[in-house]
Amino acid sequence: MTTAQPGIFIEGSGHHHYLEYTVPPGGDPDAMKAAVAEVAALAARPVPGQSAVLAFGPDLWKRLSPGAAPEGLRPIKAIEGAGGHVMPATQRDLFVWIHGARLDDVFETALAVQNILKPVTELALDDRGFVYHDSRDLTGFIDGSANPKDDARFEAALIPEGQTGAGGAFVLTQQWVHDLDAFNALPQVEQERIIGRTKPDSIELEGDAMPPNSHVARTDVTEDGVAMKIYRRSAPFGSAGRHGLYFLAFACDLHRFDVQLLRMFGVSGDGEHDRLIEFSKPVTSSYWFAPSIEDLASLSGA
Ligand code: HEM
Repeated sequence: MTTAQPGIFIEGSGHHHYLEYTVPPGGDPDAMKAAVAEVAALAARPVPGQSAVLAFGPDLWKRLSPGAAPEGLRPIKAIEGAGGHVMPATQRDLFVWIHGARLDDVFETALAVQNILKPVTELALDDRGFVYHDSRDLTGFIDGSANPKDDARFEAALIPEGQTGAGGAFVLTQQWVHDLDAFNALPQVEQERIIGRTKPDSIELEGDAMPPNSHVARTDVTEDGVAMKIYRRSAPFGSAGRHGLYFLAFACDLHRFDVQLLRMFGVSGDGEHDRLIEFSKPVTSSYWFAPSIEDLASLSGA
């Protein structure tokens, strides 16, 4: 039996901190492994009210742990979407997500992680996320309603036992910057047709009321009888001038992200795109692998 990083599934945190790093070529591999092992220890043992999750860019993980790379792990590719909407690929090497009940504790851990990783990496993204009202995105819609619950979360997020990388998860992160002026200028009923749910209470639109180019219609996908479920842990980020959603999700198969992204950007072959991309654009995108506790421990020879 493998053990997933517990912080992936600990819900209800009010504060989030996202750190994305690149690893310059030619660094000392032993120093790198030692630093990563120190952060891995934080991920393995969440303290009450606070957790850290550690994930690796595909190339770095294959370098550090060549025998433990799950099938299909690869860097994200940019998408030239319909109507000139582009999804950039900004693939990086290390991702640390810290979340918890208190901003001060979360920030302190972020500082500690930065001190550990600073000598062997370059910090490329350093942003805080927060809960907005009752878990709404800044568009005002509740985010997470259709997320898998209870044990269904593990099935959606974790590589099954018996496969290489079991107990680990594929991860997608994307920083989306919203054009709230444009979105808020629309009547509420039009906003609801873009998301595919009602705004006050997040009721899914049904039958003919659900537009084929709504966000829900583009991301709720079944392939060969298998629902392409993912487990989302996104949160709003930003300042008064620039803000949006730090999209963060876990899946048992990288293909699930590919399918949803291609459908959102209108290049899946059915002529539809997700209308949400007209009001928000991704400015970063990376695929990662969040290994099991056992695979993390093997980095330090434990
Ligand atoms: C601007 C960025 C995004 C915003 C504001 C956003 C917001 C939302 C909202 C409000 C919902 C409906 C409530 C819920 O079920 O959570 C939703 C559903 C969903 N979103 Fe997103 N989302 C964004 C990007 C993405 C991306 C990039 C993906 C996948 C790659 C994605 C995948 C999903 C999925 C799978 C659902 C549930 C669909 C269902 O089964 O009903 N979202 N999102």
